[in-house]
Amino acid sequence: PKELPLRGKKIVITAGPTRERIDPVRYVSNFSSGKMGFAMAQAAVELGGNVTLIAGPVHLDTPPNVERINVESAEDMYQAVSVRFDQTNLLIMTAAVADYKPKHQANQKIKKQDSDTALEMERTKDILATMGLRKTTQVIMGFAAETNDVITYATRKREKKNTDYIVANDVTAEGVGFGTDTNQVTLVSKDGIKEFPMLPKHALAHELLAYIANQEGWQS
Ligand code: PMT
Repeated sequence: PKELPLRGKKIVITAGPTRERIDPVRYVSNFSSGKMGFAMAQAAVELGGNVTLIAGPVHLDTPPNVERINVESAEDMYQAVSVRFDQTNLLIMTAAVADYKPKHQANQKIKKQDSDTALEMERTKDILATMGLRKTTQVIMGFAAETNDVITYATRKREKKNTDYIVANDVTAEGVGFGTDTNQVTLVSKDGIKEFPMLPKHALAHELLAYIANQEGWQS
């Protein structure tokens, strides 16, 4: 018999980058392709979950039986997560949300100048930390893309943001993180750390979800 440990669970997953507009033709963003988040969504459905995928701008097809909401900016993503959070059993923040946005968004294309220029930036809302504060029965899983002291920073993030799990990837390693078809991560929880092997993102998503379903005592 097929095991469906996420049966009956409402799962919200974010994926991809966000885009923060400078003017009508320019933006600030990052290299997230959405592959890891889309793999999490597909695996969560295959394990029986009821999945809503909140996606930043990416070029990927929606996995079967997944409800997809497209967003652009960190603020849009915040709103989309926030309105669903109370009804959510498991929130998974795979998205690479911009930490900063341009302080002023021009309504018209900014003209080229003869001199150098600077872009003033301000902080976006931290979706994970805000939901961490609101959390009652929800299980929250964040991701952390790090380039150094991976476990130390991931452990700190988990505690600071009141998150049950942090999936830490060392994005300096070959085949890990942004844009790749594979990933290698360490899962940080209150009980310590667990390393997963290098796997295709879809297989890794299955491993991660089966592991946390078991930790949470969710039965098929
Ligand atoms: O999309 P791919 O190309 O497949 O790449 C996958 C990935 C590398 C993007 C993914 O595996 C990953 O690591 N995602 C998180 C990247 C990240 O932005 O990490 P962070 O350390 O900046 O943020 C930590 C956590 O806080 C993340 O869960 C992030 O979604 C969340 N966050 C961050 C900023 C913000 N304003 N709000 C947030 O909720």
